[in-house]
Amino acid sequence: METEIVLETNQLKKHFGAVKAVEDVSLSVKRAEIFGFLGPNGSGKTTTISMILGLMRPTAGEIKIFDEVVTPEQNNVLRRVGMMVGSPALLLPFTARQNLEMMATMRPDLPASRIDETLKLVDLYTVADRKAKTFSLGMKQRLGIALALLNQPELLILDEPTNGMDPAGMLEIRQLLRSLAEQGVTIFLSSHLMHEVEQICDRVAVVQKGNLIAQGSIAELLKTDPIVSIHTNDTTATVKILEQLENAHSIETKEQFVYVQGVASSLVIEKLVQEHAIPEEVSITKPDLESVFLTLTK
Ligand SMILES: Nc1ncnc2c1ncn2[C@@H]1O[C@H](COP(=O)(O)OP(=O)(O)OP(=O)(O)O)[C@@H](O)[C@H]1O
Ligand SMILES: [Mg+2]
Repeated sequence: METEIVLETNQLKKHFGAVKAVEDVSLSVKRAEIFGFLGPNGSGKTTTISMILGLMRPTAGEIKIFDEVVTPEQNNVLRRVGMMVGSPALLLPFTARQNLEMMATMRPDLPASRIDETLKLVDLYTVADRKAKTFSLGMKQRLGIALALLNQPELLILDEPTNGMDPAGMLEIRQLLRSLAEQGVTIFLSSHLMHEVEQICDRVAVVQKGNLIAQGSIAELLKTDPIVSIHTNDTTATVKILEQLENAHSIETKEQFVYVQGVASSLVIEKLVQEHAIPEEVSITKPDLESVFLTLTK
């Protein structure tokens, strides 16, 4: 069976006058995956999400959620979507439970038990009767996610859900999103934090200045050659020797270090010793998403 595509954008574009916020973004998100939408500040993430949620009309391109086209006028399918864009819209003088109760009045079809269920899901059940204004940033964020989850969405769209949070708060959110995905909820989240996305997402799309520059599984994106770092007191000679090695590429120097990709460290050592350019030290770094991202956006 082919994997079901839950969310699809096709050559999405949004210009604000001369500002080309989104230039060409085609995404495809599969059922029950956690999909990371990654890009630096101002790269067009929020603008893309606003169009996906029918809050803003694209200059060009198309959005489909569960195979239905979404526009600001045609947005019925959004009843199956949960969303949190920006900081959560909480009613701070009211308790967590009251916040959910007020949201529930918009969905009279929901069973009354859904409020307790949602509070448990985001681990706020024991503090449900505390006012939201007394909550930590992480708790507020989880209450925001609870509001987005109340209607049992099949797709959850979150714009920078861990923005401004400390590592412990981020961990709580990661665990929550993981458990939701295990229950079959598809999650689309944006972030400018490579490390965060690497830890939580199954697949990612990288956007820069409104253009999609990569899309795939983390494993696919990390399929770059390891970097061999050579500490030497003669970088010029070392570079010359490395250039003779077959498949060596991306040779760079910085201070007393030479970096090379495409060749095994054992081969590098052998060649340098043969040529009497004995290195001080040779080490290997596996590229992480951050270094891949920096290479892509260079
Ligand atoms: N309503 C608007 N009018 C004019 N320009 C806008 C508008 N909204 C966004 N922009 C511009 O579009 C570009 C993309 O902005 P957007 O908010 O989508 O980026 P982002 O990736 O979400 O950034 P961040 O990580 O800072 O949230 C920016 O240059 C921004 O200034
Ligand atoms: Mg944004």
